[in-house]
Amino acid sequence: MAHNLLKGKKGIIFGALDEKSIAWRTALRCVEEGAEIVLTNAPVAMRMGEINKLAEICKAPVIAADVTSMEDIENLLTKSMEHFGGKIDFILHSVGMSLNIRKGRSYTDLDYNFTQKTMDISALSLHRVLQTAYKLDAINEWGSVVALTYIAAQRVFTHYSEMADAKSLLESIARSFGYHYGVKKKVRINTISQSPTKTTAGSGVKGFDGFVSYAEKMSPLGNATADECADYTVSLFSDYTKMVTMQNLYHDGGFSSTGISTAVAEQMEKE
Ligand code: NAI
Repeated sequence: MAHNLLKGKKGIIFGALDEKSIAWRTALRCVEEGAEIVLTNAPVAMRMGEINKLAEICKAPVIAADVTSMEDIENLLTKSMEHFGGKIDFILHSVGMSLNIRKGRSYTDLDYNFTQKTMDISALSLHRVLQTAYKLDAINEWGSVVALTYIAAQRVFTHYSEMADAKSLLESIARSFGYHYGVKKKVRINTISQSPTKTTAGSGVKGFDGFVSYAEKMSPLGNATADECADYTVSLFSDYTKMVTMQNLYHDGGFSSTGISTAVAEQMEKE
């Protein structure tokens, strides 16, 4: 169902680790819709080799960048512009990692060195990318930047732990930078708040299968898949959403507006 929505557009996709990654699905959809892309991931993730498969399908170069390194980000943006022979039209920030979750530290027993790293990778990295692009004037007018987030930024989902704080910061940066980049260059910046999705990052959260089936039962449309998230992201990169900026957009089958569903109420009555 390609409609050439991104014909002639050029973009950078962060965070394609394997076939399940939301970024992987989005890269494929962007190319189907006529875009040219550059793929990037942390050097350590790239050593796993999977991304080269995607690069071949998408006919895209891969440029390594650790999102916590200003040097890497500057190099990525500069090399991407050289590759495209001009500025960029869209960026997908699909990056997240919690060191405390990974090391089994609970929210009431955080190691703050880990927390700083979590914030740096999962939230401040968006600021780093935007600030570097802003200074290099790397994004065309009406360009679009999307970062992925989760509803734990608004409400407590216990096992999401420090990632909830990271996502709150990420959403705030999208809003704040969205103002400045909007005024200066009409660049728009939004976050998509996606349903729980079975990926490497998702499955790292304790009790994740419970999250998925609870959200499925709570959402009138069911959980949104990674492919559906990719479709939504394409629409935000396209010219059909030009006046949408500084928003946190729920892509969750109605989960965020549902207090209790019949399916969950019936399940509770059984207890
Ligand atoms: P994923 O594990 O496939 O993607 C996470 C990516 O972050 C990986 O490609 C990883 O290599 C990259 N990354 C980690 N540290 C990095 C660093 N220092 N520099 C550069 N890249 C780095 O998992 P998924 O689910 O596709 O995650 C993508 C985004 O979607 C994340 O922001 C995640 O929090 C968000 N999200 C995921 C949901 C889920 O249930 N899977 C739900 C809502 C949002």
